[in-house]
Amino acid sequence: MKPDLSRRRMLHNFTALTELAAEISSTHNFEEVTRASLHTLLGALAIPRGAIARYTAKPRQLKIVAAKGLAGAVGQRIALDREEVELLTRRVTPLAIQGESDGLADFAERNRELLKRLRVHISVPMIARGEFIGLIFLSEKFTREEYSEEDIEFVGAISRSIAIAFYNHRLLVSLKRKAEENRRLYGEMRQIYRDTVRAFGAAIDLKDTYTSGHSDRVARYAEAIAKEMGITGQELDHIGVAGYLHDIGKITVDRAIINNPRPLTEKEFGELNRHVTTGFEILSNIRHPWDEIAYMTKCHHEKVDGTGYPQGLRGNEIPLGAKIVTLADSFDAMMTDRPYRSRLTLEQTLSDFRLQTGKQFDEDVVAAFCRLLLREIKGATRDRVFIPMIGLKFDRVAIAATLDSMIAELAGTSPQYRSAAS
Ligand SMILES: [Fe+2]
Repeated sequence: MKPDLSRRRMLHNFTALTELAAEISSTHNFEEVTRASLHTLLGALAIPRGAIARYTAKPRQLKIVAAKGLAGAVGQRIALDREEVELLTRRVTPLAIQGESDGLADFAERNRELLKRLRVHISVPMIARGEFIGLIFLSEKFTREEYSEEDIEFVGAISRSIAIAFYNHRLLVSLKRKAEENRRLYGEMRQIYRDTVRAFGAAIDLKDTYTSGHSDRVARYAEAIAKEMGITGQELDHIGVAGYLHDIGKITVDRAIINNPRPLTEKEFGELNRHVTTGFEILSNIRHPWDEIAYMTKCHHEKVDGTGYPQGLRGNEIPLGAKIVTLADSFDAMMTDRPYRSRLTLEQTLSDFRLQTGKQFDEDVVAAFCRLLLREIKGATRDRVFIPMIGLKFDRVAIAATLDSMIAELAGTSPQYRSAAS
């Protein structure tokens, strides 16, 4: 070869290699990378036909993933045995297919028909990090000239690039699969955790003849209100759990006191009210983040004006989650029959809420509750959080007007949290 021709070819090949490197690092479409690599290789050396076969260990075989000038080649499979894979992994020169004398002669013989159909003249193993990745099949060159040493070097360089691309792709696929599996396991664990907490909630409710499903409903109301206030993620989960478990301390309170239809004596009240500190003691033994949940349950009978129990906390001294659970708990208590009274109407409940806003209840929490309820009543949402409890026997127009005016009254009273719906 003349020196200037050789230099031109080297430059051409070098350009082809740089283009391939750019292709490999820029595109996310793996089939495209494979096809582009093959075309670059064939174009650079003026080879009319070729194919790239990818190796899989299970089953041990090569599968053609890209081909040029060979109709029907893509998808063809070639079986390999363990010894052949080992030989190919160690192989540093191309296989001449014809005239192989070592352990690969068998491979050539066994696949004679297919290799003939693929017009294979030489095959180049692709190796990355010491692993056999696949084979590149190349036909004779257009010119029918033999492959020069320079050509073989070029093919070797391209095969290493493709091998690394395959290797990285496989790594990426396996990482994605593991990430997917972890996500699934996390989802399952989360579901088990939720079911367990729910079962605890149901066990607490069993103690009270009147409150079947109370914990479940409080959790749902509390979560809906928290969401409406823009709370998301773990904080939202914790509020839900606090809803399920807010009355866990009641498991130590005498059943006769809980179900007593007459007004309680001071001593009985004392015992009943202890359920908040007992609940805190039970839950605070569970490690973080349960300390937050434990504290929310402790504070679910606090009132923003400082007249609640057990600590007489005021305003923002009370965790927001606890203030949400307080309102959810009160709503459910008012809307269900109790040992000492029948359920209140929705009108009565709302008028109590209005009276107690800023005293027992936090303004922002009441506002969020009103917005949610109003949307449900107006049919502006598909969510059915409160309607199943309220039923449909109420004056929609009057209730909507009450809620509208409550929302207007509360607008501008330090909106600490934005509405998730706005
Ligand atoms: Fe309670």
